Amino acid sequence: MKGIVLAGGAGSRLYPLTQVASKQLQPVYDKPMVYYPLTVLIAAGIRDICLISTPEDLPRFQQLLGDGSQWGVSIVYFEQAKAEGIAQAFLIAESFIGKDPVALILGDNLFFGGDAFPRAFGEFESGATVFAYHVKDPERYGVVEFDADGKAVSLEEKPAKPRSNYAVPGVYLYDNEVIDIVRTLKPSERGELEITDVNREYLRRGTLHVTRLSRGTVWLDAGTSSSLHEASSYVQTIEKRQGMKLGCPEEAALYRGFLTHEQFEALVASMPKCEYRDYLADVSTEVKRVGIKSA
Ligand code: DAU
Repeated sequence: MKGIVLAGGAGSRLYPLTQVASKQLQPVYDKPMVYYPLTVLIAAGIRDICLISTPEDLPRFQQLLGDGSQWGVSIVYFEQAKAEGIAQAFLIAESFIGKDPVALILGDNLFFGGDAFPRAFGEFESGATVFAYHVKDPERYGVVEFDADGKAVSLEEKPAKPRSNYAVPGVYLYDNEVIDIVRTLKPSERGELEITDVNREYLRRGTLHVTRLSRGTVWLDAGTSSSLHEASSYVQTIEKRQGMKLGCPEEAALYRGFLTHEQFEALVASMPKCEYRDYLADVSTEVKRVGIKSA
């Protein structure tokens, strides 16, 4: 399965922060926001990754992430000239996707905890898999409604009167049909190719799987100054308490076996002296001592 990180958009709600660096490059506590969705893909076993962003921001992502080989993955870059919708990503990255299934993750969606994603990625066969997460303010999101048997029966994008409290977060798994489906879509009223319309088509075909994320999974937004600050505080609180970092691609790559222990040690040695390096050095020592216990 291929993986796409969608990291474009104007980030206007974070102005003036986004004058010089896009939203997904802003720090969430101790690392750039894009590290978190990238880590989700790596932890789920995705090695072929494509990052899509604006022509202005793409060079900065390239500078930060390179070709991915430092983490034992491949990262290629595609431009989205205008924010014409999340679903447009599949047309932009068509040559990258080829004949494979594909996962898309939004560059500003932060997930912590649980093993729902590695499990769903590992079990994916065909159709589409999306997730449902209970929120207080579903009207801000794509919303999925379930019937009494727990079967998904409707999907709506930012409904004024949501039919449930289940929002669809920004992680989507599709078979290769997705490209043809997006080709048939018309832009919505806001001028975008809507990801919810893609999901609706899979629902219509009877091939949409919706996995409810348990409360053990944390999904945070970081699109406004306030939610960005809250996300940073959350990461700081958990990291301080557990002595383990969240959203660390190096660590996920080691646990996934994308890097050998020797490669990991060399990567750590190449970093400047800092708290991040100290942490990874401790991970290295621990892995040497007891092996890899958990991802
Ligand atoms: O966060 C999950 C929600 O994301 C879903 O529940 C909704 O169904 C989905 O439509 C989307 O909601 P938003 O409309 O709030 O997404 P937004 O326009 O903020 O875009 C999400 C991210 O994707 C953002 O970081 C910018 C990036 N993006 C967005 C568009 C429309 C792009 O890179 N290119 C685009 O064309």
